[in-house]
Amino acid sequence: MTLLQIADGDSAFERTRKAFTEQGFERDILFLCKDKKLDKIVIAHDYGEMETSERGVSEYVFYTIFELANHDVRSALLSGRRGDLAWVCQTAHDMAVGVSQLHTQEIAHNDLRPSNVLCFSDTQKIADLGRATSANHAGPWDPLMHPGARAYRPPECWGYGYIQPRQYGRVTFDARAQSDLFLLGAMMLFLVSEISYTQKLRICLRPEYDPGNNGRVSFVDALPHINVAHAKALSDVKSEIESAFDAKYSVVYDEYIELCKMLVDPDPSVRGDPRMQQIGAPRSSLQRIISRLDYLGKKASLIARK
Ligand SMILES: Nc1ncnc2c1ncn2[C@@H]1O[C@H](COP(=O)(O)OP(=O)(O)O)[C@@H](O)[C@H]1O
Ligand SMILES: [Mg+2]
Repeated sequence: MTLLQIADGDSAFERTRKAFTEQGFERDILFLCKDKKLDKIVIAHDYGEMETSERGVSEYVFYTIFELANHDVRSALLSGRRGDLAWVCQTAHDMAVGVSQLHTQEIAHNDLRPSNVLCFSDTQKIADLGRATSANHAGPWDPLMHPGARAYRPPECWGYGYIQPRQYGRVTFDARAQSDLFLLGAMMLFLVSEISYTQKLRICLRPEYDPGNNGRVSFVDALPHINVAHAKALSDVKSEIESAFDAKYSVVYDEYIELCKMLVDPDPSVRGDPRMQQIGAPRSSLQRIISRLDYLGKKASLIARK
């Protein structure tokens, strides 16, 4: 962001101050991730600011230098990776580990989507912490229900007037983590379908239960209908996968879809892996899902070699 860009408005000082605050917060989070050696989060090497001059006006450019990825996940899919189930499971595994690493530090990403997952030669990493929130540090996005891109929001954040649990005036970390689970599950479905699951759900939902058409419908009243849309949307994705992959992979993709299903449950209170609760861990813990994705990736490689 440059001063020329942010000076375009009647409160340039306020916008400059906001830009500094937002970038400063993102950098703090990035350097915490680096300190804690979170290996599925992109590494920030350095940052600074540079004075330049454009059309005779002096301006500042604020920059962060990151380790360089080959490309993001969208390019990988365009070059045919969608058909490689072992890669799909490995990528889903890396994203789940990245989300879990952030959650262990009580950081929520809030904006996991295709452009924010980067591909390196031997791994994938999560990038763009520009919309993150932290339970331990107040940040610029705390007041927002869902700081990330609208097109990927979980259903409770579609505008039903749903009240997220709050503590000391801030949305709780648990509520943020539940949103991240939805974004992770939607990303996993994106890898095999190349559609935004949020868009797919909204297309399958009876229009009168979409808050975009009916501003008075509550989340509680809409939820049974979102669940119907969810069942239809998932079954469509499943049929697509069945026609795209040889039946010999069914043992992999059937379970993959089951894992996605837990993560994209429209009801945030039951989202996540119920088996984690049975062993006394939070339902939002990704540990079992991570180990199943690791297994499924290896299984898919074995099947491919047969
Ligand atoms: N470290 C990186 N290596 C290679 N490409 C990157 C890297 N970081 C970002 N990109 C590319 O730039 C795009 C925008 O970067 P991002 O950090 O997500 O900023 P924005 O706030 O614009 O979304 C990404 O979608 C990705 O394609
Ligand atoms: Mg981005």
